[in-house]
Amino acid sequence: MDERKIIIAIDGPAGSGKSTTARCVAQHFKYVYIDTGAMYRAITFAALRFNLYPDNHEKINELLETTSISLKRNETGEQRTFVNEEDVTPHIRSKEVSENVSYFSSVSRIREAMVEIQRKLGQKGGIVMDGRDIGTVVFPNADLKIFLVASLEQRAKRRIAELPAQSIVMSFDEVVENIRQRDLLDSSRDHSPLMKASDAIEIDTSYLTIEEQTEKIIVLAENIIRRKSL
Ligand code: DC
Repeated sequence: MDERKIIIAIDGPAGSGKSTTARCVAQHFKYVYIDTGAMYRAITFAALRFNLYPDNHEKINELLETTSISLKRNETGEQRTFVNEEDVTPHIRSKEVSENVSYFSSVSRIREAMVEIQRKLGQKGGIVMDGRDIGTVVFPNADLKIFLVASLEQRAKRRIAELPAQSIVMSFDEVVENIRQRDLLDSSRDHSPLMKASDAIEIDTSYLTIEEQTEKIIVLAENIIRRKSL
């Protein structure tokens, strides 16, 4: 592993700006960007297709044994999410998946399977990974841990702005309720809940632009890379 190629973990609640910021930081350093939320969404999509319930452990185990979740880049560099060989990217942000993903992502077996894939993807460094438990569970030794936060109102506004591009119709109140519900479930589950790592740096993005929050993380990462190069 090239010591200068660091692991950057970005955690935070839904709508805190993780994905866009993580993608920009990865582009800057020419690192690989991994959206772990997309992986939990993909397995949720697969489970819903078979009408599975999160508490049906036997069926969930079968699903995990027969399903591979992977992230691939297309010609334009955009990350696509696959269930086996099927590109499910257009489906994983649907209302149905968004309303169910927190239930499926609280299942221990699902988390173990996803964490195993995530660790393999990041083992060589040169990675920016975003999620809920990257700094606490997936890479507790990550070189840089960022915890992004933002007010519920700002997070819902951002989510509303993304919906037309995904052909999803949801009212502002529905979006607020979905985020509130996911915040609650993601932070209160037993297995690796959404939590700020004790050594994570918190950034409130409520009134920051993407460029500003990206720049803050780049400066922090550059300091670490510089120290490693000495
Ligand atoms: O980042 P996102 O909103 O696309 O994530 C979707 C859901 O996946 C989120 O509500 C909780 C879950 N998730 C998780 O439990 N652990 C992660 N590392 C990433 C996402």
